[in-house]
Amino acid sequence: MKLHNDACNFVIFGGNGDLSIRKLMPALYFLDKDDQLAPAAKIIGASRTALERVEFQSMVRKGLEEFVAEKYMDETVWDRFSERLSYVSVDASKNETFQHLSEVLGNDACLGNTIFYLSTAPGLFGPICRGLKANNLVSEHSRVVLEKPLGKDLASSIVINDAVAEVFDEDNIYRIDHYLGKETVQNLLAVRFANALFEPVWTNSHIDNVQITVAETVGVEGRWGYYDDSGALRDMVQNHMLQLLCLVAMGVPVSLDQDAVRAEKIKVLKSLKIMSASEVREHAVRAQYGSGVANGASVPGYTQEEGGKPDSTTETFVAIRADIHNWRWRGVPFYLRTGKRLPARFSEIVIEFKDVPHSIFPESSNIMANKLVIRLQPEESLQLYMMNKVPGLGKGMEVHPVTLNLTQPDKYADKRIPEAYERLLFDVMRGNSTLFVHRAEVEAAWKWCDAILTGWAEHAGLPSTYMSGTWGPQTAFELVAKDGRSWHESK
Ligand code: BG6
Repeated sequence: MKLHNDACNFVIFGGNGDLSIRKLMPALYFLDKDDQLAPAAKIIGASRTALERVEFQSMVRKGLEEFVAEKYMDETVWDRFSERLSYVSVDASKNETFQHLSEVLGNDACLGNTIFYLSTAPGLFGPICRGLKANNLVSEHSRVVLEKPLGKDLASSIVINDAVAEVFDEDNIYRIDHYLGKETVQNLLAVRFANALFEPVWTNSHIDNVQITVAETVGVEGRWGYYDDSGALRDMVQNHMLQLLCLVAMGVPVSLDQDAVRAEKIKVLKSLKIMSASEVREHAVRAQYGSGVANGASVPGYTQEEGGKPDSTTETFVAIRADIHNWRWRGVPFYLRTGKRLPARFSEIVIEFKDVPHSIFPESSNIMANKLVIRLQPEESLQLYMMNKVPGLGKGMEVHPVTLNLTQPDKYADKRIPEAYERLLFDVMRGNSTLFVHRAEVEAAWKWCDAILTGWAEHAGLPSTYMSGTWGPQTAFELVAKDGRSWHESK
């Protein structure tokens, strides 16, 4: 594995964009603060917009002031960090404009270890990679990081991946899914594979169903154009939610090595049951938010948002029953639910175990199955729901549900938890792609999503509407109720 301080330069295409300013620059600032950047490392913003270096520096500074807590702002670090920053204007369609980039990178000894981060429209990935190659900016050690969306379907993702593969080997391509950089998502690997307790029961003999919910209170946040082209299935399910599903469902990898982990995830994605159009009707609910009240304020419906079009049929909510056809999971539904303008913001994985085969506590009507509830955000927690005796004499033996809190101990309370992007950029520098998505994963995920999109297109009809500030349409409740189950009620 390469050492992180070998990697020197970052070139961020889309460097003045929202993601760069909100997430990437703060992540790089923290890496600098933690002495993880090589002394000579340059950070170069690139985009079509013409900007002076000082303008870019002040844009980054403003971003840090907004997105980094004041207690972490350190002027000595900022001085060092701002010195690293430069900016070049590059038009991906004009090879000659890449010359500006060569000039800024110069004959830097570290050129071979440059990390190119593509945070642009994916249609530009191919032209950017070709432009880099044509200008001799790519060596066998250069790495490229790709932001989502990687296509709109399987066919378009193949075009994008092929274009990047003309220039970079798969080993040097890092497809980001920021959910994999979240601390609790990694903790899921630790909980599953560092404890002997769970693995023997982690099968269809003991688990009844799995629920994964990513709920957001926000609407489309000024991104109507992008979002309308995408919708909840492409925006959240194809990537983040299927990645979470993989981490829950994968077999034990032989090691934490990138190939070992990704091989197990690929097996899961390839075992997802591809739905027929009639199964899509049964198992994939879509809906769009109407007006309502969110966070105590009246909010407009999706089509009335700024930039919205009244006839949009894009879904902002989905609830899906996914089935994994392999020995471990056959018969265990994985319910996935995500939406915007829901009553609360949280991401949660619930592993619901089977009921006891026979209850010997006739006095207790409220015996419930064990559940492991993994909360990813806003706060992180891990809770095991168990049954326990109600204290006292009573008529017979009465039991009631209690929760065993397995949350990280307080001794870590003062520890700053790195943001997802910080972790992931650190791993790109180290050349470790365990937490990145392999091309085969992207393609298997699209294949499954494509069938849902086709099913939706085939049965004409609009997504139903749910009121902002509610848990989605009635059909989302019916999806689980018709299997005799219900969504886990978060407290
Ligand atoms: C992004 C989606 O990938 O993830 C957004 O494009 C969504 O629509 C966001 O809001 C959610 O990320 P997080 O980390 O806030 O849960």
